[in-house]
Amino acid sequence: MLQDKITQYTAEINAFHTANADELEQFRIKFLGTKGIIKDIFDEFKAVSPEEKRSLGKVLNEFKQLAEAKYQDLKEAETEVSAGKDAGMDLTLPGEAFEVGARHPLALVRREIVDIFSKLGFVVAEGPEIEDDWHNFSALNFPEEHPARDMQDTFFIKKGGEKGDIALRTHTSSVQVRMMEAGQPPFRAIMPGRVYRNEAISARAHCFFHQVEGLYVDENVSFADLKQTLFYFVQELYGEGTKVRFRPSYFPFTEPSAEMDISCTICKGAGCPLCKYSGWVEILGCGMVDPNVLENCGIDSKKYSGFAFGMGIERITNLKFEIKDLRLFSENDSRFLKQYKSSLI
Ligand code: DAH
Repeated sequence: MLQDKITQYTAEINAFHTANADELEQFRIKFLGTKGIIKDIFDEFKAVSPEEKRSLGKVLNEFKQLAEAKYQDLKEAETEVSAGKDAGMDLTLPGEAFEVGARHPLALVRREIVDIFSKLGFVVAEGPEIEDDWHNFSALNFPEEHPARDMQDTFFIKKGGEKGDIALRTHTSSVQVRMMEAGQPPFRAIMPGRVYRNEAISARAHCFFHQVEGLYVDENVSFADLKQTLFYFVQELYGEGTKVRFRPSYFPFTEPSAEMDISCTICKGAGCPLCKYSGWVEILGCGMVDPNVLENCGIDSKKYSGFAFGMGIERITNLKFEIKDLRLFSENDSRFLKQYKSSLI
């Protein structure tokens, strides 16, 4: 009988919860008061047989401790809540849920690019976004009157510094120059970063975007090394079976120069609006580093040769995730950002 009562009250105590001072006081009176349940049970206990006393004694003590501990815990919580109320806060209100963020799709793709090239031994290098004319243009063999130096393409900051006009870099090729000036081959690096061009913002153009530059300089580096490296990169990023093709092109800092296309990632070469029904999409520019560039950076062009390449991360991301409007990348709308995942966290 007594055991049943204890079991029933134990369940009641365990289920009890309040932060209200009146309710808590009623609990205290009911269980712990001078005419309370615990007192009653102890009185009943006096009347039971000696055998029962032996088995019930421990249970009874535990029950008493449970009621006291419950009261102490709730009393402490109640004191905190009423202190909060005095200070004008309601601590019983539910908290605000933490929103879990998401990595930016450009950051996901940049990580994938870095990861793939790191398997080939490429390290990551960075350079400043505010550059001088030497690093952004002259050292890269741009002729004085080259149209890319025009006011409409470049955001100029200051005229006539020690190494020419100061501007926001228009490409990450400037980091090649900084790297080569700072040491001697071998160089094997990729250089991700933000670049700026004076363009009106639309779905397909932006005044800033992101590139990854690649540079490999050593003895006996050939165009075959360039092709194999980029072929490997494309298979890793877009899947095995993705085709590549090289078209002759022109860049002041490479000779010969090429542009690389891959088979369209959306239609697999069958033809779709993204590849303009050609089956191919251009993803990067590349070539053998022009000997003039090596010499400009203090590297012996008779002893060393190298290749370089540069790609836009937005373009690579577009081909992976089909994000057509460039403006989405800089709006930071979490509903957009949360849609993209990669195998790397
Ligand atoms: N800098 C070029 C651009 O912004 C991209 C590029 C082309 C980089 C060829 C290179 C290269 O290193 O070899 O369009």
